[in-house]
Amino acid sequence: MPRPVTLTLSGAAGQIGYSLLFRVASGELLGPDTPVRVRMLERPDALGAAEGVALELQDAASPLLADVAVTADPRTAFDGADHAILVGARPRTAGMERADLLEANGAIFRTQGAAINDVAADDVRVLVIGNPANTNTMIAAAHAPDVPADRFTALTRLDHNRALAQLALRAGVSTREIARVTVWGNHSRTQYPDLRHALVGGRPALEVVDRAWAEGEFIETVAQRGSAIIAARGGSSVASTVTAIVDHVRLRRGGTPPGDWSSAGRVSDGSYGVPAGLVCSFPVTAADGDWHVVPGLEVDAFSRARIDASVAELADERDAVRHLGLL
Ligand code: NAI
Repeated sequence: MPRPVTLTLSGAAGQIGYSLLFRVASGELLGPDTPVRVRMLERPDALGAAEGVALELQDAASPLLADVAVTADPRTAFDGADHAILVGARPRTAGMERADLLEANGAIFRTQGAAINDVAADDVRVLVIGNPANTNTMIAAAHAPDVPADRFTALTRLDHNRALAQLALRAGVSTREIARVTVWGNHSRTQYPDLRHALVGGRPALEVVDRAWAEGEFIETVAQRGSAIIAARGGSSVASTVTAIVDHVRLRRGGTPPGDWSSAGRVSDGSYGVPAGLVCSFPVTAADGDWHVVPGLEVDAFSRARIDASVAELADERDAVRHLGLL
């Protein structure tokens, strides 16, 4: 067996954490031959619950779990971390203003970014799930100046998977037949799921499904899927989020299939006219353990307007956290 890797998971006692840890134990996340040291980071008031999850994790009797520890101290949690998966965040509660939400989460991700900077492994990879995921990623990356910014990603693979599923349903094919779907922008209702470059069975998607659907109902369905699930299920997306985390990490480590790509929130280098420093979802390929923005795609007027609208929201969030002194 190779040496164990260290995985730090924040929000480990929450819904997503509870489910994800068992996908780690089964080897789905990091592979069947990779032993893992799990570091569970939780708030002090949830440490008891996290200890309970750790007991259950022991009962998975996984040969891959080298060690499991629970802590509320970010510097202990991220010490030597190869993988940091940041799920824990402050949810929006009744009466909470958007600025309050950004401030509460900004403080969490500033502290965690600084701890990652100081104590994580040199090759750490950070995936942020906790919302607002893009802006939280930007804050964490900004407080980790020694870690290359492209090591930080915000999860938008769930939106990507939702887009794959809707296109497959519409075209009457398996998702296996679909490639080159993109989700641009913020992990929010302003996101732009884009079929302009998508292929269905090797054919342009816009020759297979009608353009009016691709520019209207499709975008709305994908962008509002989270709300639809809350309305129907009475709770937010958990299992599908965990599946998307597994997809994201496996693709990053194993590479995206030739001729296809995924979507991920990345610190912009100015690509596609997105102001540098904003964390925006882009089309990305993975090779050698890193994500790369797909270069040179044509962006027509429709796409430009949709991308710009979502980027404007990201810029607003950045301005708000700057105003709060979090950047
Ligand atoms: P949850 O409320 O069940 O769990 C969150 C956990 O985080 C709680 O156990 C809480 O104690 C912990 N936590 C809060 N602050 C923390 C801190 N400073 N350090 C460590 N742990 C902390 O929520 P759930 O369902 O697990 O979702 C977690 C987050 O993921 C939410 O922000 C949600 O909006 C987001 N999300 C993002 C998605 C995406 O596609 N990017 C999809 C679904 C959820």
